[in-house]
Amino acid sequence: MQVSKLSLNDFRNHKNLNLTFSPGATTIVGPNGRGKTNIVEAVHYLATLSSHRVSQDGPLIRSGLTTANVAATVIKHDRQAQVDLTINYPGVNKVILNGAALTKPKDILGLINVVIFSPEDLDLIKGEPTTRRRFIDEFSTSLSPKFVNTRSEYERTLKQRNTLLKSLGRRNPTESARATLEAWNEQLVTHGSELVSTRLQNLQKLESHILNFGNIISGNSEPLVINYASSWLPSESISIIDIANKFQTQLEKIYKDEVERGVTLVGPHRDDLEILLSNMPAKGYASHGQSWSIAIALRLSIFTALRIHDDDPILILDDVFAELDEKRRSRLIDVISGVEQTLITAAVLDDVPKVLLSNQLLLDDN
Ligand SMILES: Nc1ncnc2c1ncn2[C@@H]1O[C@H](COP(=O)(O)OP(=O)(O)O)[C@@H](O)[C@H]1O
Ligand SMILES: [Mg+2]
Repeated sequence: MQVSKLSLNDFRNHKNLNLTFSPGATTIVGPNGRGKTNIVEAVHYLATLSSHRVSQDGPLIRSGLTTANVAATVIKHDRQAQVDLTINYPGVNKVILNGAALTKPKDILGLINVVIFSPEDLDLIKGEPTTRRRFIDEFSTSLSPKFVNTRSEYERTLKQRNTLLKSLGRRNPTESARATLEAWNEQLVTHGSELVSTRLQNLQKLESHILNFGNIISGNSEPLVINYASSWLPSESISIIDIANKFQTQLEKIYKDEVERGVTLVGPHRDDLEILLSNMPAKGYASHGQSWSIAIALRLSIFTALRIHDDDPILILDDVFAELDEKRRSRLIDVISGVEQTLITAAVLDDVPKVLLSNQLLLDDN
């Protein structure tokens, strides 16, 4: 798929910007701070309704204002769609698809698929578990937009259960509080096991690609492996019923600790992905260069899995070529040749391999 036209109004530093994109690779070039990443961030936001850089929408709107607009023409399976998204902060977003307002903005999810690879991705290796949970959850949403509901229902239940635990004030719960807690346990287990089961299935879809791209990008055969890491699940694959049982058992086991701490201590909100390079945890063991290789391999794995599932997602490479050595650059080029649309950002043209420079979009100095 591809985005052929993009208009930004009051999105980040862009007051009014209208762009046209061709298929294939387009390189957006301009000095640092000019708003290159902001452009690809807008495309990513249209696809996911979230930014790859900030967790709240406020910073996406031009300073001092409360509304931004991103409009695009996208082509998917040779069919054209017109998306018009208004970001209100504070306030709720509004999405118009082909002239008709959607009841819920999230109904847009699934229309546009984007895979973005950016310097922030080093956090996948070096950062906190929340970054890795987001990695698998975003992939899950791209495969099946319904996944956002599974997640939000789990989060809603978790919040309410935490409120109850906190309200107990470390005291032994009364019978009625105990009954309420058990009701929340049931909900938490239902939504949590669905969440974990989907993550496990989707992680499995990435397994062979991760091993493959791990080898391609690093140029040797140090195996790259990702496992689901949870304090309460066995490492072998298990059914959703077994996941639910394990979760339930674990909740009963740590019940006293949870009352003491006033917070839910186990569940998918605490799980992680374990990234192993040559059987060693990449976090703390992989060098800077190896970490980049792992990050590329992870993103390309997602890209490939989505490509098998549907048509090509839009591939975004934000400021990455400057960070890569010759070998990694040329391996990346091999992989991305033939991709329906790739958007590349760079501060300096020299950093981008020549074969990717046929379409250039120059942002000037103003
Ligand atoms: N909400 C905002 N309103 C106005 N300007 C913004 C906003 N958010 C970011 N900027 C500006 O955008 C610029 C950074 O844009 P970015 O796309 O990251 O640059 P680059 O071209 O280096 O990728 C900075 O100058 C920053 O001040
Ligand atoms: Mg940038």
